[in-house]
Amino acid sequence: AKPEHLKIMISGAPASGKGTQCELITKKYGLVHIAAGDLLRAEIASGSENGKQAKEYMEKGQLVPNEIVVMMVKDRLLQPDSQENGWLLDGYPRSLSQATALKEFGFRPDLFIVLEVNEEILVERVVGRRLDPVTGKIYHLKYSPPETEEIAARLTQRFDDTEEKVKLRLQTHRQNVEAVLSMYEDITLKVNGNLRKEDVFAQIDDALTKLFEDRKLNSGSL
Ligand code: AP5
Repeated sequence: AKPEHLKIMISGAPASGKGTQCELITKKYGLVHIAAGDLLRAEIASGSENGKQAKEYMEKGQLVPNEIVVMMVKDRLLQPDSQENGWLLDGYPRSLSQATALKEFGFRPDLFIVLEVNEEILVERVVGRRLDPVTGKIYHLKYSPPETEEIAARLTQRFDDTEEKVKLRLQTHRQNVEAVLSMYEDITLKVNGNLRKEDVFAQIDDALTKLFEDRKLNSGSL
């Protein structure tokens, strides 16, 4: 592993902009993006038994049981690309027990980014979200519209992106957020996520640039 490789976690309510910021962070810093929700959706798409079970919880906006999620995330973190380039963990941990498991496996993040967004904004972001199945890119009909007609025609919507379901996801988030925050107080960066995506990224970029430079200095590679 490179001495300066970073281990970052990003957290926030549903549709707070985690995936959007991860696209910007990985583009600049080359970290491996590991999103618990994406791993679960891939499991559903594979038709596995775990995927079938996971979908039942996701439909209700509840946390998928640890038996399914914890090993899935651990295995991805241990892949050579994550170990070599550093990782950006998105949407994990979401409970105290998930945070404890991560610690027990020896994964210690350098920074815990928390996106803070007002609740009325979250619903609007969820309802307008669209995904490009070809590139994986995240769009919003109003805030990040597709660049071409061709892309617009192939956009899809997530099965849990309705106003009713986001309220359930938000409830689950509220029940767990404080416990998770308490585990990472010393490395937490709270970010105002209500702003335009570029302005949200500027806050994260400042912190990451500093962390990256500190790392290089400490490892003597400057
Ligand atoms: P997951 O897929 O992680 O969903 P989530 O946490 O609800 O978050 P989202 O992916 O909906 O939103 P995001 O914050 O990435 O926002 P985005 O950037 O897309 O999890 C889904 C489910 O899986 C959970 O409910 C649970 O059941 C299960 N699960 C996942 N992790 C688990 C775990 N660890 N344990 C157990 N179960 C787990 O942005 C949203 C929209 O807003 C987009 O359209 C975007 O273009 C737009 N947007 C983004 N930023 C801005 C901005 N600054 N201004 C304007 N628009 C913006």
